Amino acid sequence: MSVSDKSVIKRHIRAMSAYKPPLEGRDPTKYTLLDFNERTLPVGEKIQEALIAYIRSGRMQMYPSYGDTVERIARYAGVPAEQLMITNGSDQGIELIFRSVCREGDEAIIAGSTFAMYKQCAGVENLKIIEPEYTIDIGFPVDAVIAAVTDKTRIITIANPNNPCGSLVKKEEVLRIAKAAPQAAILVDECYFEYSRETVVNVVEDYPNIFVTRTFSKTWGIPSLRMGYLISAKENITALLNVRGPYDVNQYAVVAVQAALEHPEYTLDYVREVMDVSKPLLENFLAEKNIVFWQSDANFIWCFPDNAEQIEAALREAGILVRPKADLKGKLGLRITLGNKTQTQKLIDVWQGL
Ligand SMILES: Cc1ncc(COP(=O)(O)O)c(C=O)c1O
Repeated sequence: MSVSDKSVIKRHIRAMSAYKPPLEGRDPTKYTLLDFNERTLPVGEKIQEALIAYIRSGRMQMYPSYGDTVERIARYAGVPAEQLMITNGSDQGIELIFRSVCREGDEAIIAGSTFAMYKQCAGVENLKIIEPEYTIDIGFPVDAVIAAVTDKTRIITIANPNNPCGSLVKKEEVLRIAKAAPQAAILVDECYFEYSRETVVNVVEDYPNIFVTRTFSKTWGIPSLRMGYLISAKENITALLNVRGPYDVNQYAVVAVQAALEHPEYTLDYVREVMDVSKPLLENFLAEKNIVFWQSDANFIWCFPDNAEQIEAALREAGILVRPKADLKGKLGLRITLGNKTQTQKLIDVWQGL
């Protein structure tokens, strides 16, 4: 792409494209939304009530203040509060790590296909991207990632589990990578932690190059409010707090999360239904139809029917949205979010009738 030389904006940034997920037309009254890995049911009443009470409390003209939010999330996560900071969605946590760690020309190892934000952040910092491939047989390419490490490697991303394929990297393997690249930040994105339960948060003090990002967007159901958190060694958190703004997390998110943590059952029950009921339901359906799919440890399944495009269009016509996602070789698949049992059964019934 050609870019003007007159702009004051850095040339490599002007040459990038924006990260634009296909958000248009996602009307929850018209469609069952199985396209963004969101929680597919509304959040609990208690959270809605807390938000309404906040709106009516006469405090909206005040800047956000976080009170004991960090302590409460730290208690939930099982780490000391000094190892945790809140962020504007986990996207901000990811961006803070790239910004604080990498210099222009450094190398980023970003195994793909994966979540688009990592390459976006690497692009902003003008990094050289090395992209080993996930494979359906072994998932995350641990050995290829370790083999790609050089003295210029400054960041390695591990989405755990990964989006779009759902593959999980075991804790021991994450630690093997962290040991192999002590000069690099190991970004462990635990966005879907509540589904997989695999985590490295309890070893961050022993591995000061590990940075874990998490979110209230997915299981907790408030992506609209943007609350994430980042867990790392105390010293790292102190430094990253020098970069994050004092009001980057808004007060609605704080109010909702405080209420959510008091009533975690709405999340736990949902996770149980998604993973123990809906996931086997969809897996059995795909297996019976001989449709190739990746083994997932999250609330979505990436599958490759022969006619993905037509199936996506027919499901849309029937009021169900799923996400078309091509693999690195360009083969088109569908990433399907698992809803509750009723929603998953509806998807299967419609698909069966196509
Ligand atoms: C792997 C992964 N990380 C991070 C995010 C972003 O989450 P948040 O809403 O917390 O910014 C997503 C969202 O789809 C994701 O799939």
